[in-house]
Amino acid sequence: MSNNKQISNNKIENEKIGATLIVGGGIGGMQAALDLASSGIKVYLVDNKPSIGGVMAQLDKTFPTNDCAMCTMAPRLVEVGRHKDIEVITLADIESIKGTAGNFTLKLNKRPRFIDEEKCTGCGLCVANCPVRNIIYVTPEKDKIEISDKHAKIMNNIIAEYIDTEGALVPILQKANDILNYLPEPVLKYTADKLNMPLSVVCRIATFYKSFSLEPRGKHIISVCLGTACHVKGAGRVTSALESELGIRRGETTKDMNFTLETVRCIGCCGLAPVLKVGEDVHGLVSKMMVPELLHSYEKAS
Ligand code: FES
Repeated sequence: MSNNKQISNNKIENEKIGATLIVGGGIGGMQAALDLASSGIKVYLVDNKPSIGGVMAQLDKTFPTNDCAMCTMAPRLVEVGRHKDIEVITLADIESIKGTAGNFTLKLNKRPRFIDEEKCTGCGLCVANCPVRNIIYVTPEKDKIEISDKHAKIMNNIIAEYIDTEGALVPILQKANDILNYLPEPVLKYTADKLNMPLSVVCRIATFYKSFSLEPRGKHIISVCLGTACHVKGAGRVTSALESELGIRRGETTKDMNFTLETVRCIGCCGLAPVLKVGEDVHGLVSKMMVPELLHSYEKAS
């Protein structure tokens, strides 16, 4: 579906007219639009992306002042959005340009947004609940939940424990993750069904927190801290030693399902850097020489 929009002010051939079209809604385009609009010129600000802001919106700090990029951009974004003489046209491509300097006619191809732009507040809920990408509500008759009896029993107990708690979903998933070591797909569907909640909401929580895993994990989860203090004290070397000793890379699990290797940022024991955790056990001042023995002690305990 396309909606062609034509901007033309060529009432009188070759007459210079006062409307301007700016291609690109980055920081430069926004500033140019504001400058022109405050001189009394009507401005069309066109961008082929869903929103204006450009690359600068992706930056943290800017050179040479180290200013926060968003702090520079946000006031301009607001001003552009509110200025009566600036019309922002997003998701649009230029199809043709005709005319001469001072009097151009442009044909834009505006791609559909599939939402009511007047009503949209940018909350993002439609993305999270998209019926095309997500199964919204699990219906046991339609979406057969192939959960094992063992897992169903575990989940029934957990759900019964937290069902009356406000915001029960997070503790339910936490407990299930602790007991099962990960959150299998049938467990997520079963939880959504039992809590009468959209599956997309359950999946959003399950994928948001790093402590939840959707993949089976090892019996012992090794979390190496790569925070600043640990990094400068050699956490990278400890991680490499663990990788070569276990034969896996970070984020992976050994074939015997004994160890999963993860990296984290600062676990609050910077004085003991470099630090790693195996399950709930914290090990400080770790060196790469200590790795084989450390692993051996957990293998023995398995
Ligand atoms: S940086 Fe590693 S514990 Fe703080």
